[in-house]
Amino acid sequence: MSGTVLVVDDEKNIRRTLRMVLEGEGMTVRDVERAEDAQPLLAEGDVDVVVCDVRLPGISGIELLQWARKHPSAASVPFLMISGHASVSDAVEAVRLGATDFFEKPLDRDRVLVSVRNALARARLERKVATLEARVGAKEELIGDAASMRKLFSELERVAPTKARVLILGESGTGKELVARALHRMSPRSEQPFVKVNCAAIPAELVESELFGHEKGAFTGAVARKRGHFEAAHNGTLFLDEIGDMPLNVQVKVLRALQQGEITRVGSDQVQTVDVRVLAATHHDLEAAVAKGAFREDLFFRLSVLPLRVPPLRERVEDIPALVLAFVRQLCDEHGFKLKRVSQAVLDELCAWPFPGNVRELRNLVERMVILSGESIELEDVPEEPRLSRELRARLGAARPSTAPPAARSVEIDDDEDEAVVSVAPREPGARLTLKEYRDQAEREYVVSTLRDVDFNISRAATLLGIERTNLHKKMRALGIKRDD
Ligand SMILES: Nc1ncnc2c1ncn2[C@@H]1O[C@H](COP(=O)(O)OP(=O)(O)OP(=O)(O)O)[C@@H](O)[C@H]1O
Ligand SMILES: [Mg+2]
Repeated sequence: MSGTVLVVDDEKNIRRTLRMVLEGEGMTVRDVERAEDAQPLLAEGDVDVVVCDVRLPGISGIELLQWARKHPSAASVPFLMISGHASVSDAVEAVRLGATDFFEKPLDRDRVLVSVRNALARARLERKVATLEARVGAKEELIGDAASMRKLFSELERVAPTKARVLILGESGTGKELVARALHRMSPRSEQPFVKVNCAAIPAELVESELFGHEKGAFTGAVARKRGHFEAAHNGTLFLDEIGDMPLNVQVKVLRALQQGEITRVGSDQVQTVDVRVLAATHHDLEAAVAKGAFREDLFFRLSVLPLRVPPLRERVEDIPALVLAFVRQLCDEHGFKLKRVSQAVLDELCAWPFPGNVRELRNLVERMVILSGESIELEDVPEEPRLSRELRARLGAARPSTAPPAARSVEIDDDEDEAVVSVAPREPGARLTLKEYRDQAEREYVVSTLRDVDFNISRAATLLGIERTNLHKKMRALGIKRDD
């Protein structure tokens, strides 16, 4: 693993050992004896992790940590503290002040390695989020580094400059609206209006007038002449959100508008020309809707010149940590909190959650944690649901060896989960016997019938059953068999 580790310790042996261990892992090591010598290196900004003795001759390790936290180029560099026997309480104090971890002397090679590696990975992630956020342009709001997202970004770059209609497909909460806005901002029309119409939210009888406008008196309630969304988006972008919910009779009119670039206000016979780039989105399976006759095939083909698929979050689990950190930043800012740290355990935990509501659900969850947590976000701040789900998953994995292991995340797991809820449902009391109950019952019946056959002659019955007399007495008592049976 690559990265630069700065070792600060006045003991030559420790410096030498750490150098050997860390360089052996491919890391770059710089070492200094005193905190005063560490400061300029930290100020330069190319240290990824600091491993630092708590007690140092001049400025102490703790003071160095406090100094670094206030220094812009070192504020987020993780500190791992080394403490001697006598300075454990100092190390604990250092962790309270923001150190990531501490080790006691004598150093345990493996523990140091694991901790440095984690800190490096973490630092890399934080840096990536910072660059993503700082990146200027239109797509910076769309966080994602998974292969599927990179593919989406490159498609966005290709289609944004054109006037081509784009149909944005994806499950609820995956970021379809964000994609539509990015397309607009990356297009030559970015200075012109972006008009969003939620086709699902407008009452069916009003969709037409909303889209195309109406003349005064066109219908009851049309007290004044009104511009429609197509007109409002002239020269810009019209985003038809939830297009799958558009009534069939309106679909015909939208189709005409798309084909001819012409619209007519309700109650008017005057045709108007509009120049609008149309983007549409839906979480429905439009092809299935077409097959069922709920969506016009001709409109579908007009809209889906360029279909863009936004992947569900469970198909890009690797993006969850970056999304969480970015949302924590945004939300701390929004709620006026100082930036809260997020523990690695929280990130790991959230990566195990299926998020059927995708990025929106994740964002809501982070918001809840940001509001309810203390200075930092820890495992106990993660609400119950994700843990429950993970337990269910674990149980599933244990109970049904044929299912995917809990770590594998795919659509099928969700289906399995439903199934599991059914199959692990408690059995109705009395509906089935345990093996022991069944065995006892069967045994009792056979013993009773044998006894009856020999008119309760215990010796003969014992011979027939192939057991000792004393044993038969015992069995009769155990099974509650009496003469009058
Ligand atoms: N890649 C992403 N990076 C950052 N934030 C995202 C990303 N994707 C979605 N979000 C955030 O998640 C929330 C939901 O996104 P959006 O409204 O675009 O989803 P949608 O696909 O339109 O959902 P629906 O089908 O329910 O309308 C928003 O707060 C959005 O900012
Ligand atoms: Mg949406």
